[in-house]
Order: sequence, then structure tokens, then C-alpha cells
Amino acid sequence: MTLDKINPTKTKSWKKLKSLKSTVDLKTLFKNDNDRLKKYSISIDELYVDYSKNLIDDEILNLLINLSKECKLRDAIDKQFTGEKINKTEDRAVLHTALRSFDKKSPFFEVFQKDRKKIKDFSDGIIDGTFSSSTGKKFTDIVNIGIGGSDLGPVMVVEALKYYKTDLNIHFVSNIDGDHVNEILKNLNPETTFFIIVSKTFTTQETITNALTIKEWLCEKLNEKAIKSHFAAVSTNLNAIKDFGINPKFVFPMYDFIGGRFSLWGTVGLSISLAIGYQNFEKLLKGANSMDLHFKNEPFEKNIPVILALISIWYNNFLDAESEAIIPYSEYLKYLPSYLQQAVMESNGKSVDRNGNFIKYQTGNIIWGGSGTNAQHAFFQLIHQGTKLIPCDFIGFKKSLYGNDDHHNKLLSNFIGQTEALLNGIGLDDVKTEMLKSQVSHEKMDMIAPFKVFDGNKPTTTILFNNLTPKSLGMLISMYEHKIYTQGIIWNIFSYDQWGVELGKKLAAKLLTEIQTGKIKKHDDSSTFLLKKTKITKN
Ligand code: F6P
Repeated sequence: MTLDKINPTKTKSWKKLKSLKSTVDLKTLFKNDNDRLKKYSISIDELYVDYSKNLIDDEILNLLINLSKECKLRDAIDKQFTGEKINKTEDRAVLHTALRSFDKKSPFFEVFQKDRKKIKDFSDGIIDGTFSSSTGKKFTDIVNIGIGGSDLGPVMVVEALKYYKTDLNIHFVSNIDGDHVNEILKNLNPETTFFIIVSKTFTTQETITNALTIKEWLCEKLNEKAIKSHFAAVSTNLNAIKDFGINPKFVFPMYDFIGGRFSLWGTVGLSISLAIGYQNFEKLLKGANSMDLHFKNEPFEKNIPVILALISIWYNNFLDAESEAIIPYSEYLKYLPSYLQQAVMESNGKSVDRNGNFIKYQTGNIIWGGSGTNAQHAFFQLIHQGTKLIPCDFIGFKKSLYGNDDHHNKLLSNFIGQTEALLNGIGLDDVKTEMLKSQVSHEKMDMIAPFKVFDGNKPTTTILFNNLTPKSLGMLISMYEHKIYTQGIIWNIFSYDQWGVELGKKLAAKLLTEIQTGKIKKHDDSSTFLLKKTKITKN
């Protein structure tokens, strides 16, 4: 049993969508349809998603929903949840949803319950001091050593939930850049610092290099015996963990059926559990699980991840949008765009379909963004007045965590005001009328007015929660994960492999030898020159 291999461009719905001629004018649609907001919004639990400010109408949306049906999305969802090997090119199932399921019938339930208990016992033990350092001290700092999926999820969640923080300070070392690890180490006390090496393969150059540097540092500052009390490892590669000298008590398994970029929900989330305590970690999982159930069970017409995926396909494949901006109106979520860059772009940045053929239509979107309101003072100019179509997700919370109403009202007025401005814009006549009120000369007005025109009709989706809690964050991340899968299914690609990262890794390994030995082999002129130049700098 495998996923269907349907070329979306050959479906009836795709062809009809391609043939649609009229452009959607949001202002007119709102004016003519009092039910637009009701029809184009979905509430579940404490989440409210308003997609009414998107360039869609009933005809477009119905065709998009039909497209998902023609591409057998329902069947694909079922296959993922039941653990079929839908990651064909790696011959693996894809079970991150099972990591956050508390249903006894869910695949690997007992295995994951056991892991959760281990995560709990470990984080409780470090937080309350049961697991102490080699010199008998309570740990104060935790360093997560990992990269990509073994870093970005934990980094993002730990930052997002720092309001719920335990006494522990969590740090992350990811880059092979030696300055990164040294900047982290310079402020740490070896006697009170615990290190977690997270690597599914335990062969990733960055992670192993950083782990060895840190091991050396610890042995120098304390002694070799300290490794047993100061290191844990999370990996599928148990032999390599053993060789590193990790205490078997601090070894946490990973599984080949959990993709790195979808792995924060299990043992990879150890740093999250340490950062916010196990109870909160479990709330994060339960939030994600509630979105999983929504995705699995709701009809597509009222299914948040499906609707968001379809709207995004509309922009990507029919309106030629290349990117999507993620704008969380919460400083806590400042790492969400970079987390989603990996999740979306590593998953759906593919140009070969499930038949193994080159694709002639667009796939994965470019993801970027930044926190509002900072983003407004950085790149919003281009979104408002640039030439590119950039659909934006505005993510916000009704209440702030510290309850400062003055700040929060201002934040919310920007959050909503921006989507309104993007929708309505302002035409030349209105600009001129406004200018005249401020007693500008007619000559100046005629000169300046065109630059002050905003076309409007720029699409946004508003994603609103009551508060930023572990549960709401879990729902949010899970929502995006399912959006990714939905799009991958419709684009007829495999979302859960990542062959595109391999070639660069191999070349870097070859070049390393040339840089180390100084024996530069034949390359293109540019690379040869750069290698020689680096050599000169080194000497
Ligand atoms: O380079 C990409 C990647 O393979 C990601 O998919 C993965 O999350 C990351 O590297 C880290 O891999 P590992 O957990 O095996 O160290």
C-alpha cells in the first residue's frame, strides 16, 4: 500500500482553476456578501482562523476542495496516521502524530509512553537536583547540541514558552562555526552544566564536532569521569552513543519513522521538558494532538490545515506567488519563521514527483517572516507597495501573558490594522483628499500623491488564540505540519525525505580534506580560487 501518484495538473479541478479569468477583489466580495466572514472562518477550542481576507470566492474554494479530493487526500491522511510507509524513498512510516497521541490504540503507544516517562523522570531529576553534577552540584544550565530538526524545533519552543520557564537556563549550539560553541561555553560553569547531544544519525558533522569540542572542554575543566554525569544523548545510533561514552542511564532513543523536522514531540524535546517542566511539555503534546484529531476527522470544508494548504496552493500555482510570510505578533514567537523554513522548505522543496518524474509545476513555497511589530518597520513596505504577491499569516493572541493592557492594545491594533490596510489599501483620490486636509499645495499634492497609493487587495490569514500557552503552541505547530503534508500530497511529491541536503554535505567532506592537506584538486575556476585564497588566509 502506498500513496497514490496523481498529477494534480491533470485533474478536472486544476484545469478549471487554471481557466478562471476574473480577478478577485476583496473589497467588493466583502461588500456583496455579509456571510463572508462566517463562511471563511473556523473556530476550534481556543483557536480562531479567519481566512476571509484571502483572494478566494466560493467557486475557487470549491474547486480547491475538489482538487484535494481528486488527489485522494483523505486516503493519504489515513495512511499517515495508521503508520503506512508513506516515506517511500526511505522506506519508512511517518509517525510524529503518534508521538503526541495518548490513545492506547495509536501506533507504538506503549513505546512512546515509556519514552514520555523517561523524559519526565529525567527532567524532574535534573530540575529537582536528584541528578546532580560530578561534583555533587545542582545543574543550572543545559546545552542542547544539535542542528536542523535536532535544534530548530526545541529552540523555537523553548523561546516561545519561556514565560513558563523552570529554573534552568537552556542554550543551543548548532553551527559548525567554532565561534558559536565558544560564545556559549565562555559563560558556562562546567560544574553545573549538562549537555544533551541530539542527532538522529549521530554522524552529522556539525553536531559531532561540537560535541567533541565540548567533551574536550569538560574533561579539561573537570575530568573524564565527569562525562557520565554531564552528557545525555538522543539518537537512533546507539553504538555511536556508546562509543562517545554516554552513561546508558542518559540515553534516549529516536526512531527512523520520526523525521528530524517533526521530532520535537518526543525525546528530541528533552530540552523543552527541562525548560518548562514535563507537565507543560505534555500540554504541548496534547495541544498538537487536538489539532491532529481535527485534521484527521473534520471534513475538508472545515478543516483548518487543509483550507490553509489549499489557499496556499491557489497562490503558488495559479497566482504565481513564490513566498509566504509568517508574522507572529508575539516576540516569543520570533523563531517561528526559521523553524517553519525547515519544516516547509525541507519537506516540499522538491522537483521530482512520486512517479520519479520531473515536475513541470511549482511546488514548495519560500517561507520567511519576522515578529510584528518589528517586521512592520523592516519589510512591510514591500508587502504593502512592492510588486510581488506575498500572502501573510498574522498570528496573534487575545491576551498578553504579563497582562499589560496598554502594550497589548497597541500590539493588537497593529495586528488587526495591518491586515485591514493590506485589504483596503488607499486609492489616489482618497490620498489627495487627505493631503488637502493638511493644507499641502496642489502642486506638491499631485507630485507626492502617487507614491502614497496602496493598491490593497493583499491577502492575509489571521490566526488568533486566547493566550500563548503550551497547548496553543502545540496546536499551532501541528496545524502547519498538516498544511505541509496536505500540500505535498496535492503536489504529488514525497514530503518526508530530504535528499536535497546530501550533495553539499558530501562536497564539504571532500573539500575539508583538500583544505586540511593543502592539496587542491581540480574544480571550477571560482571554487579553485576560493580554496587557494582560504589557504593563503590560513597561512
Ligand atoms: O541536513 C538536514 C538534516 O538531515 C535534517 O533533516 C536533520 O534534521 C538534520 O540534518 C540533523 O540531522 P541529525 O539529527 O541526524 O543530526
